[in-house]
Amino acid sequence: MGMKDEVHGRSQPGQAEPKVKNKEVVALEDAEAQEEMEANKKRHLNVVFIGHVDAGKSTTGGQILFLSGQVDDRTIHKYEKEAKDKSRESWYMAYIMDTNEEERVKGKTVEVGRAHFETETTRFTILDAPGHKSYVPNMISGASQADIGVLVISARKGEFETGYERGGQTREHVQLAKTLGVAKLLVVVNKMDDPTVNWSKERYDEIESKMTPFLKSSGYNVKKDVQFLPISGLLGSNMKTRVDKSICSWWNGPCLFEALDCIEVPLRDPKGPFRMPIIDKFKDMGTVVMGKVESGSVCEGDSLLVMPNKAQVKVVAVYCDESKVRCAGPGENLRVRLSGIEEEDILSGFVLSSVVKPIPAVTEFTAQLQILELLENAIFTAGYKAVLHVHSVVEECEIVELLQQIDPKTRKPMKKKVLFVKNGAVVVCRVQVNNSICVEKFSDFPQLGRFTLRTEGKTIAVGKVTDLPVA
Ligand code: GTP
Ligand code: MG
Repeated sequence: MGMKDEVHGRSQPGQAEPKVKNKEVVALEDAEAQEEMEANKKRHLNVVFIGHVDAGKSTTGGQILFLSGQVDDRTIHKYEKEAKDKSRESWYMAYIMDTNEEERVKGKTVEVGRAHFETETTRFTILDAPGHKSYVPNMISGASQADIGVLVISARKGEFETGYERGGQTREHVQLAKTLGVAKLLVVVNKMDDPTVNWSKERYDEIESKMTPFLKSSGYNVKKDVQFLPISGLLGSNMKTRVDKSICSWWNGPCLFEALDCIEVPLRDPKGPFRMPIIDKFKDMGTVVMGKVESGSVCEGDSLLVMPNKAQVKVVAVYCDESKVRCAGPGENLRVRLSGIEEEDILSGFVLSSVVKPIPAVTEFTAQLQILELLENAIFTAGYKAVLHVHSVVEECEIVELLQQIDPKTRKPMKKKVLFVKNGAVVVCRVQVNNSICVEKFSDFPQLGRFTLRTEGKTIAVGKVTDLPVA
């Protein structure tokens, strides 16, 4: 759902032959295994690119792949020509990430693009989310797999303003990212080369000073978890190397690659009970499921459960990025080949889970919700229906009872009985779904216990699971 095939620099059509693979496979096998081990020693981070439509997410993502040597000049020239033929000259860098015809014609990402690159210290998986408001569910699926976010903001005259307005996706994406567990943000102020900006310090400062209070109010600790920097995704300035003083005299901070290199990874427990929400599945010599490991580790040969239907499965093979691995730990985006289950019996939102400590499957839970912005004239009360997004689950839900309202200032429950609430309220309520879903208490597994509620294509609330029925 909302995911297209991965972008592999080396398998792009029209590209020069891959560096090593295929040749002398036998002799290389050992070396390859070695290489794989080495690669796995580097830490791994999932980065989601978020921000308002046309901010330059795909362009910046494409430029990263180009600068890290994964896309050659010939391919770039081909994209330049293709973009020109579609009267979208400036979109050629975005074509590296936007691989669907529809995306290229319209110049808009629809499905989350996925690609890999490495710096000195880190292997990165890039998730390029769509900015258009119609595709927020796909953005949610991308952000739910990420550890950190690159929030792309256009500095071009008028563009920062539209993205930042109420109803703009700069706001919505930040709020969603925070709820979905994106712990840190790099805010890249993009299009600094644009003639309306021309690397102006005033414009950069204006954007930083307007974004800062908003990021704070969305729950980010700006000093610790947020870093701003100026770039030009289209020209590749201040990305792999620091921007030249002749272009931007006032910037003394890092470039994007340096900032990504130093960003600290959240601690993860490789020994926790195994949990991997399934994002997608397909048939390929058995059943293959895709997802990000949220807790624990998985090895070839392991016995696991597919929840909520308690199907017993065996792990036949584990793939991390493009390579087969014996074991993989938390934070990794994997493809896992299973035996003991048919592809038809798996839905996205199911969770590959440890047998000893399976993930709870419920049709009801208690949650603390923060109401963001209800539809006009709507009131939030028992009987309210919305679409629940929690890790890779998308499910219709109903609020069956409001339990208590929380005073946002003191964070304590208010005494008076609550029948309905308005925008901005924090409320504890009971939520029901028709089909069994897998969730955890937020306090146990934040990633599996935080969710969003949407109605008619708008995010109306974010929340966390506070209690589950006793099994
Ligand atoms: P969606 O996927 O639809 O949300 O858009 P996006 O954020 O991926 O933007 P995309 O990369 O498709 O770029 C949108 C337009 O902005 C294209 O015309 C790009 O050429 C232009 N653009 C992106 N980055 C820059 C930049 O650094 N400078 C200038 N001048 N234009 C840029
Ligand atoms: Mg895009």
